[in-house]
Amino acid sequence: MNPYLVERLAPFGTTIFAEMSALAVATGAINLGQGFPDTDGPDVVKQAAIAAINAGHNQYPPGIGVPELRHAVAAHQQRFYDLAYDPDTEVLVTAGATEAIAASLLALCGPGDEVVTFEPYYDSYAACIAMAGAQRRVVTLQAPAYTFDADALRAAITPRTKLLLLNSPHNPTGKVFTRAELTLIAELAREHDLVVVTDEVYEHLAFDGEHVPIATLPGMRERTVTISSGGKTFSFTGWKVGWLCARPELTAAVKTVKQFLTYVNAGPFQEAIAVGLGLDDAYFSQLASELRDKRDRLCLGLEQAGFAVTRPHGTYFVTADIAPFGETDGLAFCRALPGRCGVVAVPSVVFYDDTAAGAALVRFACCKRNEVLDDACTRLKALAR
Ligand SMILES: Cc1ncc(COP(=O)(O)O)c(C=O)c1O
Repeated sequence: MNPYLVERLAPFGTTIFAEMSALAVATGAINLGQGFPDTDGPDVVKQAAIAAINAGHNQYPPGIGVPELRHAVAAHQQRFYDLAYDPDTEVLVTAGATEAIAASLLALCGPGDEVVTFEPYYDSYAACIAMAGAQRRVVTLQAPAYTFDADALRAAITPRTKLLLLNSPHNPTGKVFTRAELTLIAELAREHDLVVVTDEVYEHLAFDGEHVPIATLPGMRERTVTISSGGKTFSFTGWKVGWLCARPELTAAVKTVKQFLTYVNAGPFQEAIAVGLGLDDAYFSQLASELRDKRDRLCLGLEQAGFAVTRPHGTYFVTADIAPFGETDGLAFCRALPGRCGVVAVPSVVFYDDTAAGAALVRFACCKRNEVLDDACTRLKALAR
């Protein structure tokens, strides 16, 4: 317990990623814990950043983001989803999706409000809901298929519910919510007059099935804040360029918070991501197909090592069950894994309120070079012996 940390953030000490990454460094293990690619994104995007820096575009960009990027985002939403957004009033550039999530929650909910989300959930959701002073109510995605009980979702919505916080394609399960599931969620949002904040950072990393932005469903564009990440779509996670699209009133509300968090960030990188968004369809389909191959590579290796694997339909991640090893404690398993075979993974329990539901699950990242994945799979086979 840190005596200086305010009570509402006490449960959020040091993230498991920091602990596991430190373990990877200390033991020399292969780090499949944190989700970042180990190769750079497109050279044309990188060169655009260098050109913007050399052109002297190094001071504060406009608060809502450089016009090139806002226009490119609007064009992207039109091109891929047939959604029209005004680049001046309905697009807001943020410091990664992380800031878009934080600013949205701080702007749109507060003490006395409830936020409904699915577990396992990306760790920043719980922290940001707590920072906003709101309460989270979670609905469990049931392993191994990660479906949810519609009645459980209905029951989670109360008169205090202010918003639904979604994530599809979903970290850590790799689930891509189906059109039918999203239609049900949309119906409930309309019925209870809820705002939907949807984290779609893996929008271009859906391998099987279609990614359906919930904003495309009837009546949803007006009540949805859609969040994206240049880091994920262009494999430049360190640039921290994200954005959101929403109707003007919602965008303005989030901007009010965002301007006092970072104000702005990543000026020249914003210009570069605008170039990326203009790349042809082949770039986006190749990104997904390369990652699909990596997913298959890692899933096969995990299965051969003895894990029970649910094949993800999208994202950087594969979730595996350790039950076949006769083990049930994923946290202990992950702490011991570097010593046992030189690989780092993340215990999925950290993404759950219902710790029993996630106890035996561990998450591996597949967004690594093939030789790294192959090496990790060879090492993991030591577990099978
Ligand atoms: C579901 C999800 N949302 C948001 C983020 C953060 O995105 P960014 O790096 O653009 O802040 C991540 C990163 O891992 C993520 O997995």
